[in-house]
Parts: sequence; structure tokens; C-alpha cells
Amino acid sequence: MKIDISNRADIIFLVDTFYTKVQQNNKIGPIFTEIAKVDWSHHLPKMHDFWESILFGKAVYKGNPMLTHFALREKANMHQEEFNTWKKLFFETVDELFEGEYAEMIKQKAQSIADLMHYKLNSPNQRINIV
Ligand code: HEM
Repeated sequence: MKIDISNRADIIFLVDTFYTKVQQNNKIGPIFTEIAKVDWSHHLPKMHDFWESILFGKAVYKGNPMLTHFALREKANMHQEEFNTWKKLFFETVDELFEGEYAEMIKQKAQSIADLMHYKLNSPNQRINIV
């Protein structure tokens, strides 16, 4: 039986497994590896902080994801297909590794943030949607 997500170590396991899948994915992998040329030693700890803040309410993440993705949108496709792929990989990873209340909650949070981000990035009034 799988366990639920209950601490930072679980989040690290989830996030690192997810980004391994992301890097191997043909649709969105190149956005990270070739376009943004992500420094993983920097990006992964930031994402551990982000999800720990979202899931457990610990204010460890400092940053503005909307600004980062607005800048990225100038260089990469950030449309429905890319967001669908991101969500599919995220949900798959959660379901492979965990089950329980927090596993369900992190998928719901990911879904709503991804949908809002996609909406803001593609909205005609995007300038006023930056935060
Ligand atoms: C098509 C979907 C997405 C793509 C291609 C994408 C791509 C990226 C890339 C390349 C970066 C790193 C930028 C850099 O370090 O230079 C990044 C940062 C980040 N992404 Fe995404 N992302 C996507 C969706 C999401 C979603 C749905 C979330 C949240 C649920 C998210 C949360 C973040 C956060 C928190 C950061 C760090 C921002 C910062 O503080 O600098 N991303 N993303």
C-alpha cells in the first residue's frame, strides 16, 4: 500500500521524480532543458519550497511564478497542450508514489494553479493579471 504525502522529504521525492519525467518528455522537456536552460540545482530546491508552502502552509517559498512564466511565454509555447502535458505528468507522478488526503489535495492545487496560470498567460488583459 502507498503512503500519503506527509513531510518535506515526501515532497522532495515527488518533485524530483516529476521533473525527471518532465526532462524526458518531448513536448515540454525542451522548454526546460533547451529554452530556459534550467539550472536544476537551483530550480529543484525552489520547487520543494513552493510545494511545501502550498501543501503545508509553510511560508518557505519566496517568488513570483507568474512573472517567471510570463517571461517564458515570450520564448516558448505555453498553451493548452503544454499545460495538459504538465498536468498529466504531475498527476501520474503523484498517483504512482502516493495515495491519501494530501495526495488528492496536491493534485487539486496543481490543477487550479495550472488552470489559472494558463488563463492568465493567454488572457487579452494579461498585463493586469501579472500577480
Ligand atoms: C506548460 C507548463 C509549464 C512550463 C513549461 C513551465 C516551465 C517552467 C520553467 C522553465 C521554469 C524555470 C525558469 C527558470 O528557472 O529559469 C519554471 C519555474 C517555475 N514553475 Fe513552471 N512551468 C509550467 C507550469 C507550472 C505550473 C502549473 C506551476 C505550479 C503549479 C509551476 C510552478 C513554477 C514555479 C513555482 C517556478 C519557480 C518560479 C520562481 O520562483 O522563479 N509551473 N517553470
